[in-house]
Amino acid sequence: MLTHLQQQPADALLALIKLHNADPRADKIDLGVGVYRTGQGETPVFGAIKAAERILVETQDSKAYLGPEGDMEFVAALMPYVFGKDSPDMGGRIEGMQTPGGTGSLRVALAMAKRAGAKRIVVGNPSWPNHAQICRDLGLDVVEFNHASPDGTADMDGIRKAIAQGGEHDVLMLHGCCHNPTGIDYSQGEWDEIAGLLANSPMLPLIDMAYQGLGHGMEADAYGLRRVLVSVPEALVSYSCDKNFGLYRDRVGALYVMARDAADLPAIMSNGHSLARANWSQPPDHGGAAVRIVLEDEALTAQWLDELDQMRAQLAAAGQAGGVDLSPMGAQNGLFSIVGLTGEQVLAIREKHGVYMAGSSRINVAGLTAGNIDKFIDAVADVTG
Ligand code: LMR
Repeated sequence: MLTHLQQQPADALLALIKLHNADPRADKIDLGVGVYRTGQGETPVFGAIKAAERILVETQDSKAYLGPEGDMEFVAALMPYVFGKDSPDMGGRIEGMQTPGGTGSLRVALAMAKRAGAKRIVVGNPSWPNHAQICRDLGLDVVEFNHASPDGTADMDGIRKAIAQGGEHDVLMLHGCCHNPTGIDYSQGEWDEIAGLLANSPMLPLIDMAYQGLGHGMEADAYGLRRVLVSVPEALVSYSCDKNFGLYRDRVGALYVMARDAADLPAIMSNGHSLARANWSQPPDHGGAAVRIVLEDEALTAQWLDELDQMRAQLAAAGQAGGVDLSPMGAQNGLFSIVGLTGEQVLAIREKHGVYMAGSSRINVAGLTAGNIDKFIDAVADVTG
């Protein structure tokens, strides 16, 4: 039976990790997969997380199962940061569950939407390639609208049309902040308009929030999400802690559902729980427990917010490393910016210069340092010249 399986291409983004590691050139530059790096090229564990992990080791007295929803204290502790301190559950209309990373959350969100009757997922182009891959795997149609204009701003006409054409079986996928791959986010005024359009649309918004705190800070980065949620009757939010707590391989995320009516939540969440059970049964505990310990402790929370803010400042500076302003190449908010190379140029810069970036010519700006920016600029000039 298994011999009938066709060879599948490796995931283009994740394959870059191995390709870069195998490259013997000492001056290679890794601008591929989206992980934060210090100026020395390291991806350290947050100090607040290390401290929380120590507490966890000392105090955890059981590893017995928690259930498909995972650690609900972790899920609740995040909510004021995502939805605001004033009404973190929107009067009882929001409930969440823990998931393995943002990808696990998206998987359950999209499968839940499918069970609820969704047929088409409307996604900006470009988007994170895994969005379309998960949709295809679930048998959902992907419909694209143009996300960005060549001048490095959001294509508002693209999303206006997408919403105008949206029907009752459509989900609209939005990036909450730090758009992946373009780094082009909606301004506050644009979010206001999008929220107003969605208020009169039958589409279900699904907001992918994977980089909160890496753009303009935890509160500012939540503006669009909160604006949409107060304007629409129901929405799904896929949240990742992998970047803003530096927990990448520990896979820490949550799915939040905002229901039209609090009374609908038990039935809706029972679908999330049964989907989790069918996929991974129960989410891994360790990373979520570390986040919970950070958020339940005032001093550790302050330390985490401070570390996150230093990271955000370093990312903003990386976009201008060595005094070279990257903005003429594309916008940047958070980890990503698009350089604007063709597929052949992306291959050429990798082969000739050992510069690794995603096929869309997305770069992870955290990989740029004062020590490699000149080489990077020269390499771009060489393959585009
Ligand atoms: C990325 O886009 O590089 C990150 O979100 C990592 C991933 O899982 O693709």
